[in-house]
Amino acid sequence: MAGLDVRTWRLPEHVFGPGALLALKGYVASTGARCPLLVSDRAVARLGMAESVVTAVGLPQGSVSVFDDVEPELPLSCVRRALEAAREGRHDLIIGLGGGSTLDAAKVCAALAGRPGDVRDYIGIGKVPGPGLPSILIPTTAGSGSEATPNALIMDDERGEKVAVVSPYLIPTYAILDPGLTVTLPSAVTAQSGLDVLAHAIESYTSRRADMYTEMYSRHAALLACRSLRAAVRQGDNLGARAGMLLGSFLAGAAIGQAGTSATHALAYPLGARYHVPHGLAIALLLPSVMAANAPAVEVKYAEIALLLEGGLPEDGRAAAPAVRRLCDEIGIPMGLAQHGVDPAAIPEMAAEAHAIRRLMDNNPRDLSVDQVAAVFADAM
Ligand SMILES: [Fe+2]
Repeated sequence: MAGLDVRTWRLPEHVFGPGALLALKGYVASTGARCPLLVSDRAVARLGMAESVVTAVGLPQGSVSVFDDVEPELPLSCVRRALEAAREGRHDLIIGLGGGSTLDAAKVCAALAGRPGDVRDYIGIGKVPGPGLPSILIPTTAGSGSEATPNALIMDDERGEKVAVVSPYLIPTYAILDPGLTVTLPSAVTAQSGLDVLAHAIESYTSRRADMYTEMYSRHAALLACRSLRAAVRQGDNLGARAGMLLGSFLAGAAIGQAGTSATHALAYPLGARYHVPHGLAIALLLPSVMAANAPAVEVKYAEIALLLEGGLPEDGRAAAPAVRRLCDEIGIPMGLAQHGVDPAAIPEMAAEAHAIRRLMDNNPRDLSVDQVAAVFADAM
């Protein structure tokens, strides 16, 4: 493209680095909040992190209420329960602590606690009419980049489809990026969520909505993921690697907030809805096959990705997809949709479903027909 787009783009005020959690008290004070709700999940509570955060808030004992029941992949029923807790307690600040689903739940709570109606009324793009409660998001995984995006992804368990609330009012007030909170993440989750970071970087970089500004975030997120992911998986307490992944996740989140993701994420939707494949794993299983299909349209950008992934001399763009596949093997992701229970007979229906997600497919650098989407699923089997 010839120049910068003139889109308005807000990132949350944020702090990054070991010990960043210490900023929480000041952030809370700046909002003037007296009765925050901490939205979290059982895994985080088990590790004692929720307790540490309640203490770090710096308010008198008993001021912070906790909803620690956010479920993976965020079912609609679960968001409704969290929202009910936020509405009933008349809270004046929402703090989200956890992985992508938890942060998405916290964003919905902040946006809708002071508004009437059901979550379903706000599904879609731009349905939230104005700012909600202030919010502080604290990721404990490096994956979704939710702390930087205007999106909340929800599994509509009544209708069997993945949906999204998308609004600039979902971008949090503050984000706290403390890599020390991610060191206990198991290696399999680190690997899968790390592939989600890489996919966000690659898909936003090659999106039809990318511009010179988003490309800057995408490229650096890809660099950080390529440099840090192997070490973060193999050596969980490597704080430098964890920091690289957490910053990469945030930057990639910033990029997808503007440039979006594309076919890999569209194809992941039916895998999540039909087979409950966790998001990061679905992305890892699909990314190399989608990249192989897209390669003819994005030779130069994929050549850069291949170079980042494997070092050495600039590679042909077609080298990027096999490089991602090798990375997945190296970090122990069991590849192949078939071994995760996906039935090849379902491919035509899944292809039609994924192809219909125009919000994502229209960003893809190459137009893919339903048959081509089906071929990508078949390749990933
Ligand atoms: Fe993702």
